[in-house]
Amino acid sequence: MNLIFCVLWCCLCFGALADKVSFLKLVGVGKPNSVATARSLVIENKWFKQKLDHFNPTDTRTWKQRYHMNLEYYKHGGPIFLNIVGEEEMSHHWMTSGAWIEYAKKFNAMCFQLEHRYFGRSHPTDNLSTKNLMYLTVEQVLADLETFINTISNDYEQILLNSKWIVFGGSYSGSLAAWLRMKYPHLVHAAVSSSSPLMAKIDYQDYYMAIQDTISSYSPKCASSIIEATSTINGLLQTNDGVKYVDDKFETCSDMSIYNKKDKALLFNNLAVSVALIVQYNNDNKKKPKSSLSLEKLCDMMLDQSLGSPLERYVAVHKQLRSVNNKECTTINYQDSISALRKTSWNSQNGKLGIRQWMYLMCTEFGNFITSHNRNNLFGDTIPLNYFMGMCTDIFGKSFNINALAKAVKKTNMIHHDLKKKTSRIIYLHGSIDAWSTLGLLQPQTRDSVSIIIKGGSHCSDLYPSRSSDSPHLKKARKTVVYYLKKWLSED
Ligand SMILES: *[C@@H]1O[C@H](CO)[C@@H](O)[C@H](O)[C@H]1NC(C)=O
Repeated sequence: MNLIFCVLWCCLCFGALADKVSFLKLVGVGKPNSVATARSLVIENKWFKQKLDHFNPTDTRTWKQRYHMNLEYYKHGGPIFLNIVGEEEMSHHWMTSGAWIEYAKKFNAMCFQLEHRYFGRSHPTDNLSTKNLMYLTVEQVLADLETFINTISNDYEQILLNSKWIVFGGSYSGSLAAWLRMKYPHLVHAAVSSSSPLMAKIDYQDYYMAIQDTISSYSPKCASSIIEATSTINGLLQTNDGVKYVDDKFETCSDMSIYNKKDKALLFNNLAVSVALIVQYNNDNKKKPKSSLSLEKLCDMMLDQSLGSPLERYVAVHKQLRSVNNKECTTINYQDSISALRKTSWNSQNGKLGIRQWMYLMCTEFGNFITSHNRNNLFGDTIPLNYFMGMCTDIFGKSFNINALAKAVKKTNMIHHDLKKKTSRIIYLHGSIDAWSTLGLLQPQTRDSVSIIIKGGSHCSDLYPSRSSDSPHLKKARKTVVYYLKKWLSED
């Protein structure tokens, strides 16, 4: 089953999921659009013995965590760079390309990246049962990183002497980079945190509002024709004939029922996510399918009267998006989607892609559910919070509800508050058109941290390999990163 669930979240930065997959989550990093390098360098998988539970001394269970290492740019006395991988499979492409590799060459750094527990091939438990997922917490992840840094430092003591560790991350893993620097300042010398949503909100309605702002400022008419299309669909879904029409136009994978609110919310969510993804990764240097849409192309189509009414134009946009993403039909069956997300095998589709695991993190740590419940917005009042909270309960069980989540979110936000006051040697980068940026730290209140807002920049745009066509703002941001790394590396 092909799900488009959700999860407009951080999987929009580093990662390595197949292109088709990055479509599922509004977060993460994907792969860099690497220039074909005829290099002989082979990045091999290495495995690190990691504790399952860092906080229970009597639990001695261990598992194997995957990491990559590249010594090619290292020169004696250089620092150690660690790329923190987030909620996706680790890709070897990031070991030879991306902005951090360009910095590594400048600073003669030794490079590592560590795969996140429960994602890719780093499997801490036999399966993904809800009980086993209890070890999937941000605290455990940070402790994995701490253990990794300590162990590598000891293993390579002779070569490394007292080399300084700099950590990198984008989107969710950008948050991990900042949290790691704050929690273990004696181990981590500095952090580069790109597009990190450090604050948590259960109901993140700002996301689609930011998408709307971006589209509106490009073309107000483009935004209003999407609003009109959404509202027309909403109207159609009130009658049986209308429902049939929508099924037909959007090539839904199964027939929708007029009474099924959840199927309708799933349809609207899927349509909204695929439009949002165009904006989120607009014009960056991420690896994408050749025919993928840009904001310009989206709006060209939404304004093209030869395609028919705004609804017809919206239908054409989604037809093209399905074709780009190799999707035969539009997923609308909520119950099937939930059944697929309840599967606990590592080999289930959602397990392989990390969707079940990411959903678990959203339901237990951050929320950040991307809702739309205002009639005048791009996607109208079609994606309520209870749709997502219902998913948490339906997938994981009754105790995964809004009350439990509210407590966790409060904790995340206390950490965010501390970070703001005490942040040190962290560079935060944000794109001005990134809908996640309102959750980031835009104004650190200390002297030795900086926040850079890249004009016109999208989610994590600074992470991808540099191109001559990069905007002057992006070029300048990367220079600023180099400036601060140089400054901070000269400090003890
Ligand atoms: C999942 O793994 C646990 C052990 O970690 C085992 O007890 C349980 O039966 C497994 N569940 C399934 C559905 O295989």
